[in-house]
Amino acid sequence: MKITLLPGDGIGVEIVDAAVEVLDAAAKKYNFTVEYDKKLIGGAAIDACGTPLPEETLASAKASDAVLLGAVGGPKWDNVDPAIRPEKGLLNIRKGLGLYCNLRPMTVSKFTAHLSPLKTERAEGADLLIVRELTGGIYFGTHNEAHLNADGVEEASDIEMYTRPEVERIARFAFEAARKRSGKVTSVDKANVLGSSRMWRKIVTEMRDKEYPDVELNHFYVDNCAMQLVLNPKQFDVVLTNNIFGDILSDEASTIAGSIGLLPSASLGDGAGMYEPIHGSAPDIAGQGIANPLATILSVAMMLRYSLNQDAAADAVERAVDEVLEAGYRTPDLWAEGLKKVSTAEMGRLVAEAVK
Ligand code: IPM
Ligand code: MG
Repeated sequence: MKITLLPGDGIGVEIVDAAVEVLDAAAKKYNFTVEYDKKLIGGAAIDACGTPLPEETLASAKASDAVLLGAVGGPKWDNVDPAIRPEKGLLNIRKGLGLYCNLRPMTVSKFTAHLSPLKTERAEGADLLIVRELTGGIYFGTHNEAHLNADGVEEASDIEMYTRPEVERIARFAFEAARKRSGKVTSVDKANVLGSSRMWRKIVTEMRDKEYPDVELNHFYVDNCAMQLVLNPKQFDVVLTNNIFGDILSDEASTIAGSIGLLPSASLGDGAGMYEPIHGSAPDIAGQGIANPLATILSVAMMLRYSLNQDAAADAVERAVDEVLEAGYRTPDLWAEGLKKVSTAEMGRLVAEAVK
């Protein structure tokens, strides 16, 4: 298996190192070989090559079985030309690899439920999957940066646009995922205001009626969905969203799980998949060895399952994470009196050993 590694910026470097140790352990135990090709993306690539997504990075990703990404961005690049911001590297590699489907599972485990900002009994046992459209919508529509209009008033705009095929293919992913879970899809939109949302709702409803009559479907306006997530996260199973609503709701969902350092993601399309934690580059704690690598390690589990066809190894990595938590090891974000505080690298090693 060929894996392209894209550590990126900030804590990306440390968490990818820890996750690679776990992937190596899984490969050894389950008898397959992995070869790595480390490439630049984001701010690190801007510094070295003047662009957040060098051609050779995209070429390596296209030629690999899967991509593991850390995080991109940081205050150092806050004032660069918007066309080459670090985040553009991430958006462009998603687009370049055709990764239109982003899966963000959120489960609240018994080890971290008490860290949720919600009452423990409200959070514990929540288990949902956000299916986020990833290569369309307002993140990819024309961005008209701030400029003076004909009346001399400063203005800026961004376009939210979807085509029917784009909505159909992501909705299909959500319906299929629901069939393998508890059979319920909640589709998120703002159909009371937006034309793109009214088309989204119409298409999703048609597909349920014609192709997925066995799946239960409900529609939430995004503002209500944000509220329902904190009122009763256990009501959700599969949550289907466009690009921007999924970005926002997945940060909200992650914090319900106790720490944003726990949530993995998979971005899938027609070719190689890309796997990354849902959190960012956390420049404030970068380089200190205190970042939580578990979201990246759990992203490796998703990679094993969806791209490398190693289901047993994927289960083993997830079990290993539970074992290490059960044994009381925590990075500082999850630590409390009575538990064992470990660094990013130590956490990686502990999980790798548990896999072996
Ligand atoms: C995410 C991030 C990215 C996004 C940024 C860094 C471009 O917030 O993966 O959720 O908005 O998709
Ligand atoms: Mg985000």
